[in-house]
Amino acid sequence: GTTLGASAAERGRYFGAAIAAFKLSDSTYANILNREFNSVTAENEMKWDATEPSQGNFSYTNADRIVSHAQSRGMAIRGHALVWHSQQPGWAQNMGGSALRSAMVNHITQVATKYRGKIHSWDVVNEAFADGGGGGRRDSNLQRTGNDWIEVAFRTARAADPNAKLCYNDYNTDGINAKSTGIYNMVQDFKSRGVPIDCVGFQSHLSNSVSSDYQANLQRFANLGVDVQITELDISGSNQAAVYDTVTRACLAVSRCNGITVWGIRDSDSWRTGQNPLLFDSSGNKKQAYTSTLNAL
Ligand code: XIL
Repeated sequence: GTTLGASAAERGRYFGAAIAAFKLSDSTYANILNREFNSVTAENEMKWDATEPSQGNFSYTNADRIVSHAQSRGMAIRGHALVWHSQQPGWAQNMGGSALRSAMVNHITQVATKYRGKIHSWDVVNEAFADGGGGGRRDSNLQRTGNDWIEVAFRTARAADPNAKLCYNDYNTDGINAKSTGIYNMVQDFKSRGVPIDCVGFQSHLSNSVSSDYQANLQRFANLGVDVQITELDISGSNQAAVYDTVTRACLAVSRCNGITVWGIRDSDSWRTGQNPLLFDSSGNKKQAYTSTLNAL
């Protein structure tokens, strides 16, 4: 193929980008999106603070702009993210206990029902594990409602949208390490107890290198019976093009790796300001990283 999306499709994968609703009127941006990508993720528009700004009042205008742009062009949609310790609305940030648990369940039910049938994979829970060597959960208001909050979130999402793939998504999980092993153990436990989980997302915010066991790590999760997805790829540094090649080939080498999403289109769109970690430069020109990715597909 001559584009990322078409080439990925030939390999039975998608190639997606995180996008912002307010940029869809930028013709350079929209032209690259429409030409190159066949999946989208809302960079912020489906998060809790965006979709439920006050408790029980849901706001979908910006998320709907992304959904309709994608649907009218036949692009798949990754849902991101139903629950997360970050980007919670102010009203939820200081909640706890059973009130927060109920609010979480209602939020998942409402948002997953609203988009039922439109989302190929949902990040049900984002970034619930701690960094460092412990391999345990991150402290958060959600974690303090009880260790079962993640399985409750997945069961709730399954009930609301039975056909979406339900993913756990995190960062610093790009090799076999304490954090990724903590998540691996959770997935294994969920599978053994029948808690619904279908996929694990590897954000893959990388800086100039990738663990030599990146592919082996994807494969060990796949061997548990879940799909794996590269969900927020961006790579800084002078070795960028080579690392994009390695990551792309790793996904293609794992049959359960469904696809790759880059976290933005042009370098100027990146949340990593000044690091130029994406595939298109700030003028929308293809970078060397683009070419190495396309050639790897
Ligand atoms: C980032 C967005 O790119 C920014 O626009 C926003 O200000 C903060 O969040 N992990 C995630 C994403 O799961 O949701 C984050 O996105 C980047 C890190």
